[in-house]
Amino acid sequence: MIAPSILAADFARLADEADAVTGEPGRGADWLHVDVMDAHFVPNLTLGLPVVESLLKTTELPLDCHLMIDNPDRWAIGYAEAGVHHVTVHVEAAREPVALAKDLRAAGALAGLSLKPGTPLEPHLETLRHYDTLLVMSVEPGFGGQRFMPEVLDKVRTVRRLVDTGHLRVLVEIDGGINDETIEAAAEAGVDCFVAGSAVYGADDPARAVAALRERVVAATPHRTWTG
Ligand code: DX5
Ligand code: ZN
Repeated sequence: MIAPSILAADFARLADEADAVTGEPGRGADWLHVDVMDAHFVPNLTLGLPVVESLLKTTELPLDCHLMIDNPDRWAIGYAEAGVHHVTVHVEAAREPVALAKDLRAAGALAGLSLKPGTPLEPHLETLRHYDTLLVMSVEPGFGGQRFMPEVLDKVRTVRRLVDTGHLRVLVEIDGGINDETIEAAAEAGVDCFVAGSAVYGADDPARAVAALRERVVAATPHRTWTG
């Protein structure tokens, strides 16, 4: 799956920017990644629930909200209740991540747990059993256009092994610095869902950029079965 990040889009034209990656059925973006930043958990400030509610009305793409905020235990549920398909919180910010996952799922969303690049996976494996996805950050959260950190792929490989051997059931998502040059290594390590901001919205034709990224993933992983 490819999830373009609207952090790199034109915030004054979000409806058009969502359309620009929708593409033909089955060929465009799978999810639309929305980075919510509160200027506390990360130094940057972006958008919040009112903008997400407007986006929900204007696009048919499932929204993938990545909450880089303090106290997600209080705020994340509103995104799920609004109709966001996938709500991801940071393990470094959540106080009761297991209860939070249950609430998100009860509200009809998929629950995602994200780890910053320096956060180890092992202490959170039990918590992860309650989640639908693991979002591995491959840059320090807060800004688009940063360089991919290949060392986080060790976490991806570990989770992939646990999933493939039936010990865990999560989708593996990666976020930060994904482009034509880095996506193959991430695919080989076992990522299922690739977030890309500048590589998609910095391109002349964002829909074409999504298709090109997907082609690279498929070419890099001939042994894996990709279903739509
Ligand atoms: C960074 C955000 C990313 C960002 C990725 O904190 O979580 O989703 O948009 O942007 P690129 O793909 O440009 O690294
Ligand atoms: Zn993100």
